[in-house]
Amino acid sequence: MPVNLKKEDNVKFFLDTADLAEIEEAASWGALAGVTTNPTLYARIGGKLDDFHNHIKRICDIVGPDCPVSAESVAMTRDEIVRDGRELAKIAPNVVVKIPTMVEGLAATRQLADEGIPVNMTLCFTVPQAILAARAGARYISPFVGRFDDISEDGLAQLDDVVRAIGNYDFTADTVNGEQIEIIAASIRSANHVTQAALMGADIATVPFGILKKCVSHPLTDRGLESFLKDWEKVQNA
Ligand code: E4P
Repeated sequence: MPVNLKKEDNVKFFLDTADLAEIEEAASWGALAGVTTNPTLYARIGGKLDDFHNHIKRICDIVGPDCPVSAESVAMTRDEIVRDGRELAKIAPNVVVKIPTMVEGLAATRQLADEGIPVNMTLCFTVPQAILAARAGARYISPFVGRFDDISEDGLAQLDDVVRAIGNYDFTADTVNGEQIEIIAASIRSANHVTQAALMGADIATVPFGILKKCVSHPLTDRGLESFLKDWEKVQNA
């Protein structure tokens, strides 16, 4: 059953990648609302440690100031995460500090939120984790869908639980500048994951570029286009 009907905003697509060409291409389609990166995605494009901040800046420049760009801290203690978060936040005003759901991460989230720095709490799998992230002041919470499916569990059901549980309450007092918390359906493996996330009322789906392309196309669209073009040729030759 759809829940959380008091949405202030519409469902959005983020791109889950560190690949600049993919981001440029997706941004040119006119429907991109943000980017999420993680250490794996950065390693996948051959990213170097000393170029990380510059790379995040390049992403911010491509998508513009209205699109949040999540950059992940790999620090393991609250003080280090806070230090990392402050540095990441200096890159651009639209940088969101991505922090794993763990005790040190929660503590760092509280500190950064109190300083007005938005946090995307990642590697979130359960409702209690999501509630703790919300109470700690996370601006975004990222429940992972596909990784549940990878271990033969129902990732969409888990996402649904998180969306409904968070939607039951008003957490605006806890977040940066009283902004509304947004749930990012993450670890998306298919267009159907996007469909189901939207039906549940998730605020955002962050998708790999390959899945975004699949979201655009459908065999019936291709077939319809082909027949329209053929028929238009007949009109031209009539
Ligand atoms: C979320 O922001 C993560 O970057 C991402 O969705 C993880 O997805 P994966 O399970 O495909 O690695």
